[in-house]
Amino acid sequence: MKKLLASFGIVGVGYWLWRFLSPRHSIMVLENKVVIITGASSELGEAFAEVFARRGAKVVLAARREDRLRRVAERIAPYATDVLVMPVDITIPEQRQRLIDETLRTFGQIDILVNNAGVSGGNYYDQLDSSFIEQTLQVNLVAPLLLTRLVLPHMRQRNEGYIVNIGSAMGREPTPYFAHYCASKAGLAAFSDSLRRELFDTNIHVLYAALGWIRTEMLSPDAEDVLRQFPQHTVLSAQSVAEIVIESLVQGRYEVYSGNWIEHGGIRLERFAPRIVDWYWRFVTRYMPWLELSRKVS
Ligand SMILES: NC(=O)c1ccc[n+]([C@@H]2O[C@H](COP(=O)([O-])OP(=O)(O)OC[C@H]3O[C@@H](n4cnc5c(N)ncnc54)[C@H](OP(=O)(O)O)[C@@H]3O)[C@@H](O)[C@H]2O)c1
Repeated sequence: MKKLLASFGIVGVGYWLWRFLSPRHSIMVLENKVVIITGASSELGEAFAEVFARRGAKVVLAARREDRLRRVAERIAPYATDVLVMPVDITIPEQRQRLIDETLRTFGQIDILVNNAGVSGGNYYDQLDSSFIEQTLQVNLVAPLLLTRLVLPHMRQRNEGYIVNIGSAMGREPTPYFAHYCASKAGLAAFSDSLRRELFDTNIHVLYAALGWIRTEMLSPDAEDVLRQFPQHTVLSAQSVAEIVIESLVQGRYEVYSGNWIEHGGIRLERFAPRIVDWYWRFVTRYMPWLELSRKVS
């Protein structure tokens, strides 16, 4: 028995050491890189635009609300090298194509695609509008997959590029009352893992961001009030989350978490002991206002 435990220990430590020491792509310089950011009209997208611009990247701001994009462009203008405003609906194929074509026409290259646009909102699954479920899957999953499909040939040609998929902790540890959202983010996580493995022999990298709660328009003040009853969750600012994700990109990681150690622990537990996570959610849904929270997330 002792020998068995010792072998497990050695294998475990060996595995973590190997993961820790295995080479990543060299530290990346963002200066003059061309970055497309979808969902740049709202807080997390805006924060990405600001952090990339401060590090010298050329940013392409994409979302539907042009007035908001122009406001973001004005705000980052003092330190942005170059900004392109692209009012597009990423669920429309022609508009996705226009986004890529116009970026290539303006800057001649695409280095980084940040698939950030997203929609959320929750309820009992059978009480959600089917059109809303479809819209969630279109924005959170189908559009990122097809935008990636459009930029990859260009990245392959240059043998260089970065795809950043903004997912959610709910994509790795699905929660009740957000089934459609969890499905979209879990799909994005699986897509990121698969593509990363497909691209092993290239210099194209994929990063999946399994994010916890962020103070943005998605999390209305009302919803944040309810969330305060869940001490196991933290709410971070968009700015700090953008910094965490971009730092992970620069360091060549393939997955990044935001949130506290309990939220990280939940993701790990989901992998190794999903029944324990089931008990946890049984408790939460019975005694805590998770359903109320899901209805207040927009
Ligand atoms: N907030 C959180 O607690 C949280 C937690 C984990 C993960 N996330 C993820 O973080 C990302 C950003 O979310 P957020 O919190 O910043 O949400 P948000 O404030 O609601 O912003 C969503 C963004 O997506 C854009 N968008 C939505 N539909 C679009 C479409 N059809 N075409 C183009 N753009 C579209 C919106 O722009 P327009 O309306 O102008 O088109 C907006 O800029 C999402 O992927 C979300 O799932 C958020």
